[in-house]
Amino acid sequence: MKPVRLAPSILSADFSRLGEEVAMMEAGGADWIHVDVMDGRYVPNLSFGAKVIETVRRLTTLPLDCHLMVVEPERYFDEFVAAGATGITIHAEAAPHLHRQLTRIRELGARAGVALNPSTPLSAIEEVLPELDLLLVMSVNPGFGGQRFIPGALDKIARARRLLDAVQSSADLEVDGGINRETIVQCWRAGADAFVAGNAVFSASDPRAEIGALRDRCLETA
Ligand code: DX5
Ligand code: ZN
Repeated sequence: MKPVRLAPSILSADFSRLGEEVAMMEAGGADWIHVDVMDGRYVPNLSFGAKVIETVRRLTTLPLDCHLMVVEPERYFDEFVAAGATGITIHAEAAPHLHRQLTRIRELGARAGVALNPSTPLSAIEEVLPELDLLLVMSVNPGFGGQRFIPGALDKIARARRLLDAVQSSADLEVDGGINRETIVQCWRAGADAFVAGNAVFSASDPRAEIGALRDRCLETA
């Protein structure tokens, strides 16, 4: 059976207790920590950059799954990998030279990912499938945590799964936005195997247990 990867997003964490929040994610069994980088230009919100990646890197050995919601993402590759990013996911809409940029991320020793907004067709990544370590299907319009899951993402995930399988790609198929106990099962059934969760984990009464609960929902329906 394919593994279930849970990637809590630190965007929803309490930054006054970042060390405890990261320890909680580890104790809860998180597979990756999702790091949402926003520049206030590609998306209408600002978050954080290399300094926070470096800080989280010192707090954990878990892979850091960095999601760049920025224009000109290539400006940050070197700095983010040096800060400890394990994977760098860029938006196809912000990367006209996608092949070059994915190649560069791999050259730096990181895993190369592409994210697609809800309105961006899967055809945007068809020519770079061999360069992909991760495909991220956005199930909200990026920019904010706590938004509602867009149901159209399910069919896109199913089509993405077929596309990856057709070329025997081992890329992870990740979904991001509005993931909770209900939507995670739908995405898992549609073929996703990596799940970002912000609000569902950090607003839960027991955030640590929620990570396991989300994973169990998938394993129960495996
Ligand atoms: C949205 C971000 C997401 C966000 C997910 O722009 O890319 O990673 O933090 O948060 P929830 O799970 O609350 O939708
Ligand atoms: Zn994200």
